[in-house]
Amino acid sequence: MRVHVAFTPAEEVSAPVGIVIDVLRATSTMTQALAAGYRRVLCCSEVEDARAIAQAEGASVLAGERKTVRIDGFDFGNSPREFLEPTADTVVLTTTNGTRLLLAAASRCDLVLVGSLLNLQAVVAAAAAANTGDVAVLCAGVLDELAMDDAYVAGRMAAALGGEPTDSAAAAMRLAASFATNEEGLGASQSARNLHASGLDEDIAWCARESVLDVVPRFSRMVGPAAEVTL
Ligand code: MLT
Repeated sequence: MRVHVAFTPAEEVSAPVGIVIDVLRATSTMTQALAAGYRRVLCCSEVEDARAIAQAEGASVLAGERKTVRIDGFDFGNSPREFLEPTADTVVLTTTNGTRLLLAAASRCDLVLVGSLLNLQAVVAAAAAANTGDVAVLCAGVLDELAMDDAYVAGRMAAALGGEPTDSAAAAMRLAASFATNEEGLGASQSARNLHASGLDEDIAWCARESVLDVVPRFSRMVGPAAEVTL
């Protein structure tokens, strides 16, 4: 199994298995919402798409952020702590980086899995079980730049996957090994600084918890402009 890491979406990587990571916070939120009992998450890149899909699909809540803050008129922002109890069948989600990467991966990979620290063990097991040879760990980053938090989690995933790491996977593993704790690895990022500036530090601690959710969200199909993610 060849394991590769793409540190930014700009690398446009295709692979049989793609693991999408936006630990602060989009993929942590998707994982939390589905573990809590929402049936699906519909991922949109644009705010207008999200509004239209929620209207068309019904039985859904609108969730998302721009600059970490809840979008006007939406039911929720993008904090995993807002998705502890399902209040509808579907979450329609749009975020700055994570949902866009999910949509891109859905168009390039045969199997797309949603990864975070919350479901680290489960997603690594699912990727290994897919047994398709190549796995690409895809980092959302921040506005097409490398973000330390996603690179840290990518290194943790690459180490857990084993196999033959490419140099970028080896670099991510060395980076991850340079931090003593998950909090340190996430805290050293632009994403964390953005959340801190918005008073959302509790989300960093929440997303730093490891393998506490035994679920593996995955891309299932396109619903209009949205990528549907289910268990
Ligand atoms: C994103 O997708 O850009 C991040 O998840 C943003 C955030 O959660 O604030």
